[in-house]
Amino acid sequence: MKEIITPALVLDLELLKQNIKLMADFGRKNHIGIRPHFKTHKCLEIARLQIKAGAVGITAQTIDETEALVKGGIKSVLLANQLVEQAKIERFLSLCDLAPEVLLCVDSENNLRLLDKLAGAAGVKLKVLVEVDIGMNRAGRKPGEDTVHFVKKVLACPNIEFKGLQGYEGHAVLISDREERIKTASAAVELLAGARKLLLNENIKCQIVSAGGTGTYDLTGKNSGVTDIQPGSYVFMDAKYAAIRKEFIPALCVHTTVLASRGKGVYTADAGHKALTSEFGMPALLDKTGSIEKLNEEHTRLKLTQGSLLPGDRVRILPSHCCTTVNLYDNVYVSDKSQVSEIWKIQRQRAV
Ligand SMILES: Cc1ncc(COP(=O)(O)O)c(C=O)c1O
Repeated sequence: MKEIITPALVLDLELLKQNIKLMADFGRKNHIGIRPHFKTHKCLEIARLQIKAGAVGITAQTIDETEALVKGGIKSVLLANQLVEQAKIERFLSLCDLAPEVLLCVDSENNLRLLDKLAGAAGVKLKVLVEVDIGMNRAGRKPGEDTVHFVKKVLACPNIEFKGLQGYEGHAVLISDREERIKTASAAVELLAGARKLLLNENIKCQIVSAGGTGTYDLTGKNSGVTDIQPGSYVFMDAKYAAIRKEFIPALCVHTTVLASRGKGVYTADAGHKALTSEFGMPALLDKTGSIEKLNEEHTRLKLTQGSLLPGDRVRILPSHCCTTVNLYDNVYVSDKSQVSEIWKIQRQRAV
């Protein structure tokens, strides 16, 4: 590992595979599809491992992620978001014939009209999920009659195919008290299952009802009104999720090098805000007892309460939020039995 230039993102292959298997086993046991979220790793090799383990498809959040997945050979891709700009919609439409199933979310009449018009012009029958707001208040129709009314509008569009419903209980996934999380997530997912029932009463079938994240996979994944779940962070884990999800093991860390000792257990290492994100709080030390006190642009200030370090020593740091930290890197070093076995690309390009 000494050959790695720090700061660097390092992934333990064995632990990654264990996390993927645990989620895949949950899906098989509970007859729920796993549609892992690409936004966590943006890495095609990991998406392929998830599919190989039994995932029904992969979830994306942006047009760039969708393009990377479709062109990377993933057969079912759900863009769990709205596209409202014409250029992005046209890019999406150009992907629809490259994979058996490419799905997009829609939640407004304006957008629906534009999607229908552009799909018609491209000669594509666009597959959509109607997004339902199940309490996060980010996007989506209201769960009751408003959803039914909107789905009927979707069904009336000649160039659109209605495939089902999307919901995300993002306001519940990180609630630390398990009872409180169960209560909030269950209420949210019931709204989605209820919308599906209302549609069934009108003889409108939902082939897909998708929701859920790492914090709620075991609650949402057991609701019979849901067909698949979209967990992302479980593959890597991070300090935030590690506090509430013990069954998955942190597989990803940032390697840093100690640059200087400041005395009294305080050290400066070479990973700052440009190597670690902190919107979920400070990252954590992995093998040392102590904490990270501060991040600057290119420096970490850490304090040990036990042991000592010398300039040149390596320190492994557990990100507080794996998804945004990964997005700072072009590559991840894959470690197999403590040796770098491969370097995988992170697909973080953004269309200009
Ligand atoms: C649409 C959607 N699905 C699922 C997730 C779950 O992600 P995670 O498992 O990392 O919490 C997210 C998180 O942002 C999301 O936006």
